[in-house]
Amino acid sequence: MSEKFVSLSDLTLSYGSTVAVPNLDLDIVEGELIALLGPSGCGKTTTMRAIAGLLTPASGMIEIDGQDVTRLAANKRGIGLVFQSYALFPHLSAFENVAFGLRLQRMPEAEIRSRTEAGIETVGLMGFEARKPAEMSGGQQQRVALARSLVMDPKVLLLDEPLSNLDARLRLEMRSELQRVQKDTGVTMVFVTHDQSEALAMADRIVLMKDGKIEQLGTPSQLYAEPATAFAAEFMGFENIFCVEGENLVSDTGQLPLGFAAEAPMLAWRPGGVQVGRGPFSGRVLSSSFAGGHREYVLDSLLGQIKADAPIETVEVPLGHNIDFDLPQSTALPLAA
Ligand SMILES: Nc1ncnc2c1ncn2[C@@H]1O[C@H](COP(=O)(O)OP(=O)(O)OP(=O)(O)O)[C@@H](O)[C@H]1O
Ligand SMILES: [Mg+2]
Repeated sequence: MSEKFVSLSDLTLSYGSTVAVPNLDLDIVEGELIALLGPSGCGKTTTMRAIAGLLTPASGMIEIDGQDVTRLAANKRGIGLVFQSYALFPHLSAFENVAFGLRLQRMPEAEIRSRTEAGIETVGLMGFEARKPAEMSGGQQQRVALARSLVMDPKVLLLDEPLSNLDARLRLEMRSELQRVQKDTGVTMVFVTHDQSEALAMADRIVLMKDGKIEQLGTPSQLYAEPATAFAAEFMGFENIFCVEGENLVSDTGQLPLGFAAEAPMLAWRPGGVQVGRGPFSGRVLSSSFAGGHREYVLDSLLGQIKADAPIETVEVPLGHNIDFDLPQSTALPLAA
């Protein structure tokens, strides 16, 4: 198994004079599902287009399976692409949509048939072979698009926000489906999303990007437990991030005395890490919303807004009333910057 199955070295990607991705280094392991995660415009699609051969790098090198493909045409790279809009042929059946690329390769009919059937089985669409795209749900159409790429036996499958057009339930279903297909076929997958829960749930490793650069790279549990920067922490759900100055927590709007000694210049808490109902601080309820297992409060405090989750069993505090709270040391994440 190659540790550098896809290798991007000092890759700079530009549109005209605008550099979208400067000096990117990234090694993708054979057979892994790696997620490119980051806010809109951070360079996820640009990076995918370069790997696919749809965008020529300004400088740097792309290697796939030991071969320098930097100047190789897109259709010679052995890459499969699945995009947000699945762009199926509306007049073709599911079977013919999946078989399309194989027919272009002028493969013998018997092989087209067996590979297409295998692809349809892999994505769990047996029985739907004759349906046209308009006769299938969004999730089923997305599976056809996935099968269409898989039957080409790609070295690498690139998926750019493939689930973003699906409703919440289908999205969850397709998440596990994609993971299963990936484990069954062993294909290396690069998956783009700006949804952190999607990346956390699916990926073997996450590349968190900001402004065309890698902010942090690690396993989902590493990123979730130990985001290294304020940006990463915010992306991983630490919604309360404050600077430490001397004995105080400081925000743009005010400060509160810190109850413990902090070494770090910043501290962050998830809403679930804020203690609600008791503590040395007080906040006025600005909003309160039911979130199933807990209640989400936004509190106005001397430190500005605090996002805090309270157990659903506790009595709801009305808007405008005060709640005591604490920002405990035990749930504080220290941040370098
Ligand atoms: N064809 C283009 N011409 C000029 N600039 C572009 C072009 N495509 C993208 N960019 C710019 O390059 C940067 C990265 O864009 P990219 O599409 O890679 O972002 P992204 O991370 O995929 O965002 P999103 O989550 O919105 O899809 C952005 O600043 C964008 O405006
Ligand atoms: Mg994009």
